[in-house]
Amino acid sequence: EARSPDDLRCPIVVIMGHVDTGKTKLLDKIRKTNVQEGEAGGITQQIGATYFEKKTLETQTARLNATEKVELKVPGMLVIDTPGHESFTNLRSRGSSLCDVAILVVDLMHGLEQQTIESLTMLRKRGVPFVVALNKVDRCYGWKTAKDTPIREALKGQDEGTLMEFRSRATDAKVQLQEQGVNSNLYWEMGDDDWSNSDFIPLVPTSAVTGEGVQDVLLLLCQMAQKKLEEKLMWHANLQCTVLEVKAIDGLGMTVDVLVVNGHLKEGDRAVFCTLDGPIVTEIRGLLTPPPSREMRIKSEYIHHKSVKGALGVKVIGNNLDKVMAGTPVMVVGPDDEEEDIKAEVMSDLTKLKGKLSTEKAGVLVQASTLGALEALLQFLREDTKPPIPVSAIGIGTIHKRDITKISIMNEKGHPEYATVLAFDVDVEREAREYAQEMNVRIMTADIIYHLFDQFTRFMDELKQ
Ligand code: GTP
Ligand code: MG
Ligand code: NA
Repeated sequence: EARSPDDLRCPIVVIMGHVDTGKTKLLDKIRKTNVQEGEAGGITQQIGATYFEKKTLETQTARLNATEKVELKVPGMLVIDTPGHESFTNLRSRGSSLCDVAILVVDLMHGLEQQTIESLTMLRKRGVPFVVALNKVDRCYGWKTAKDTPIREALKGQDEGTLMEFRSRATDAKVQLQEQGVNSNLYWEMGDDDWSNSDFIPLVPTSAVTGEGVQDVLLLLCQMAQKKLEEKLMWHANLQCTVLEVKAIDGLGMTVDVLVVNGHLKEGDRAVFCTLDGPIVTEIRGLLTPPPSREMRIKSEYIHHKSVKGALGVKVIGNNLDKVMAGTPVMVVGPDDEEEDIKAEVMSDLTKLKGKLSTEKAGVLVQASTLGALEALLQFLREDTKPPIPVSAIGIGTIHKRDITKISIMNEKGHPEYATVLAFDVDVEREAREYAQEMNVRIMTADIIYHLFDQFTRFMDELKQ
């Protein structure tokens, strides 16, 4: 099938930014939902996905587009929500690697914060076009609500004092971005630095609560995707699919949330997934999505599909899915394919990762929640710690008794200091914890990578004394 500008797939949009800047709230505004208030501690802890139909984009931008007159060519939009909390670097990294365009959300009252800068770095490293939402504009003193209006219209209705505060805060954000090497400007004041022919980043003031500027963000994203990414967004039939999350759902068993970027995924397909113990081949028994404009991570009245077309977030039902790893690719065995080739291809990232490990005979066990986190942790231990911490074994997911047995061998090999598990963002079975005590294995757990390094260094210092 020839690719064509008349057959674009949905752009995948990721929302990134520091904790509590209003990422989920912004999505709630567009969805007309209230996901954010249902979150434990008001904190997002997993990757989400919401599909917006073209007609939703049209109605939500209608007022602004009456004057802008942008022709919408994208068939919809798939938006990935990410957590802003510092311990979820791996999920932000996964989000930024999957997306076509991004919204970087900044709290106008706080300016750039630690994870804003981290997100910025990720987006630039991957060359992702993005807009910056200067959110919580309604917090400017004396702000007069202009519900769901385009931002320029909303600003026109404000008093001089409010405008002065807004201008001053927007300038602060611009200066802070400049310090990070990013040129930016309020998007309607860009002139020759128009985002479409320069590297200038458009700034859009928004309120996720009262809705000012939300139309502007949506319309800009559509324009950006259409102008900068037309080639990339031409749909093609080769399946391109990645695991977002693996989850148990009542009544469905273990399910895998995947992002189908291109191609089709069908019920009955023989799909190949990656696990730490090797590839698994399983028949797809069901494909579910939430209704349009509903968050995939919230349980809902799922829609059953016989076949889905990218780009879309889909919940896959099948057997033996419990060990599938988030962040890994999914492939389908076609009529002309050798199953063994497909298996090797699905496993290739992990095989490379294991290859990097093979040299070290003495070292600690490193266990993480996902492949992405494991990669980040290994790189950190190897390159950012002085001296490097040697690693002899790796694992994904909960720590079991067998993991303790594996690493306790370091005691017998004369390396008691390496009879240690460095566990990032994973649970430890009670049995494993007890057994570790018995076998003189230390388990160090943390949900922030460098805390593991601190713990291990302190322990090594104590050993020396
Ligand atoms: P994490 O996912 O945990 O990183 O947070 P988040 O960026 O998704 O922020 P969230 O949507 O959870 O909002 C954080 C808090 O800010 C909530 O109490 C929201 O009600 C509030 N908030 C978000 N956007 C706005 C806004 O535009 N104006 C005002 N006044 N409050 C907002
Ligand atoms: Mg959130
Ligand atoms: Na939050």
